Amino acid sequence: MRKYENNCTAAGDVHPALETYTFRRRGVTIRNRTVLAAMTNKQSHDDGTLSDDEIAWLEARSRGGFGIVTTAATHVLERGQGWDGEFGTWSDGHVEGLTELSARVKRDGAVLLAQLFHGGMRAPKTITGVQPVSASTNPLGSGLGDSEEMTASQIQETIGAFGQAARRCEEAGFDGVELHGAHGYLIAQFLGGKTNRRTDEWGGDQKTRTRFLVAITEEVRRCTGPNFLVGIRLSPELTSCGMTIDDAVTVATICGELDIDFLHLSCWDIRKEGTFLGETKPFTTIFREATPAHLPLFTTGGIWTAADARLAMKQGGDLVGVGRAGIPHPDWPSYLEAGSKEPSRPPFTPTRLKKAMLNPTFIEYMRRWEGFVTQ
Ligand SMILES: Cc1cc2nc3c(=O)[nH]c(=O)nc-3n(C[C@H](O)[C@H](O)[C@H](O)COP(=O)(O)O)c2cc1C
Repeated sequence: MRKYENNCTAAGDVHPALETYTFRRRGVTIRNRTVLAAMTNKQSHDDGTLSDDEIAWLEARSRGGFGIVTTAATHVLERGQGWDGEFGTWSDGHVEGLTELSARVKRDGAVLLAQLFHGGMRAPKTITGVQPVSASTNPLGSGLGDSEEMTASQIQETIGAFGQAARRCEEAGFDGVELHGAHGYLIAQFLGGKTNRRTDEWGGDQKTRTRFLVAITEEVRRCTGPNFLVGIRLSPELTSCGMTIDDAVTVATICGELDIDFLHLSCWDIRKEGTFLGETKPFTTIFREATPAHLPLFTTGGIWTAADARLAMKQGGDLVGVGRAGIPHPDWPSYLEAGSKEPSRPPFTPTRLKKAMLNPTFIEYMRRWEGFVTQ
């Protein structure tokens, strides 16, 4: 496997993920290359305002030394909400809480990103009160009918909403946003040929199915200043939306031509491999090779130990993202220091998770991840 140069000195026993990193296009420097990946935690209020519990959870990860702290997915339109207790960025009324969050996270040294999204056909009517929309009419399953195909004006409204949400985040002091194009939510529903069967300019081949994401990215840039970070999260393949690895590489290549600061690959397991152009390699390596070298690549999935993080960087990741390991270990980056022991693994007791700043709702939610919380 090719050894990637992540412009870091791996000399001595300094872990490469503990090196600083500068996003050259914006001049933003982060203290290390660790990223707390976006994690929905259901801790906020019904009107979309942030709760002190959600702020405290993110603040603790900044205090714990993460280079980047990413918020949970946050809906840019009220009807795009995916879960109860999800904070929103769809109203100017949310700016006050966002400002408090950014002040508290940034005080402890992390760079703060909001993950902007719209659930599309995965924004349940039981939460939003309206029938879900998507790129096309798609079955919702469980007797819930079909999603409604978005009209051209709904598409424009949604693109505008992403821009306004980013503008609010910037006003609140955030360093940037990550556009959630992974995991089958609205952007991914537009990207995938199974969920997007439109015959207008928003559908068609992979290039035209990517137009929605391109338009959102351009609108976010238009609504924010030159130093604001804008990145895109993608899945390397996504069966639920009909996206193959070839499709995802095409999307990533188009993203590489946009004015963005990073691409974030959501692998779920960095050891998983895919086959592209007849060669089988880890997803991270495939996407590193297919995208411009100047575009920083974050990679996330199954990273728990310092050795895992090293592997992710060897595969071509410039920054390493962690989800679950950052839940019981707010100070996860400290486990990358020379001579550190390995971070403990699940299951964790509710008491332990409470100490790690999870409220009872979030602890209960973590029971959905089998074996994470003790019985
Ligand atoms: C509780 C929980 C909530 C998550 N919520 C989100 C989310 O809001 N947005 C997102 O892109 N990924 C979400 N993910 C996926 C994580 O960002 C991450 O990619 C995944 O957990 C794999 O990384 P890990 O093995 O380090 O946990 C979530 C994962 C967990 C465990």
